[in-house]
Amino acid sequence: MSSRDLEGALALTGAEACRAYYRDWAERYDAGFAAEMDYLLPAHVAAAFQAAGGQGPVLDIGAGTGLLAERLREMGFAGEIDAVDFSPEMLRQAGQKGIYRLLMQADITKPLPLAPQYRGVVSSGTFTAGHVGPEALSVLLAVARPGAQFALSVNHRVWRAAGFDTALAALEAAGRVAALQVIEVQVYGAAALAQDARHAEDRAQVVLFQTT
Ligand SMILES: C[S@@+](CC[C@H](N)C(=O)[O-])C[C@H]1O[C@@H](n2cnc3c(N)ncnc32)[C@H](O)[C@@H]1O
Repeated sequence: MSSRDLEGALALTGAEACRAYYRDWAERYDAGFAAEMDYLLPAHVAAAFQAAGGQGPVLDIGAGTGLLAERLREMGFAGEIDAVDFSPEMLRQAGQKGIYRLLMQADITKPLPLAPQYRGVVSSGTFTAGHVGPEALSVLLAVARPGAQFALSVNHRVWRAAGFDTALAALEAAGRVAALQVIEVQVYGAAALAQDARHAEDRAQVVLFQTT
């Protein structure tokens, strides 16, 4: 039941609740939620990253079952892609697809044990209600090379409410990021209406920027 899954996911409070939720959701995430809701967001992020000239190695933040990396590959992206997610069950699904160089189980709100090696950082669906807030941005900047291209989705519900708009403006004003661009997209396609009228029209900001 994709709509019940989605409603529950957006109401999560805290990291433990979130990890437990994905433990149960992982096996039916692709065939249930993503297929039934015509989940377009990974494709939007992949297309924005490609259009911005994004290069590997790439880190996929909250990679889940690997839908964003799949879309990147379909669009011809040949660089290396690493996955980070705190749900081992979601990463197990991603691993079965054989797309990622590395699967790392870690909480992205805490410093990651990774050198600043990435030329690309991408994410779809992770910055949303009940999930991760703008406090993770500095963690992600720490693993990127200077000049790295970012393409991150932020659900419209939390864009202002959680302070992503001001956090990104502050990073730009401080000279830590440049070429900040925001594109609004539909999270789901037409099929979502019959599944879940409450969320079918959800929108997200795809945020593009480069590290300085
Ligand atoms: C809605 S899913 C998105 C998965 C995938 N990117 C997609 O678009 O299908 C959100 C993912 O973020 C992960 N996640 C949530 N909070 C996290 C955190 N603090 N650290 C790491 N991963 C987290 C969840 O485990 C889940 O796999």
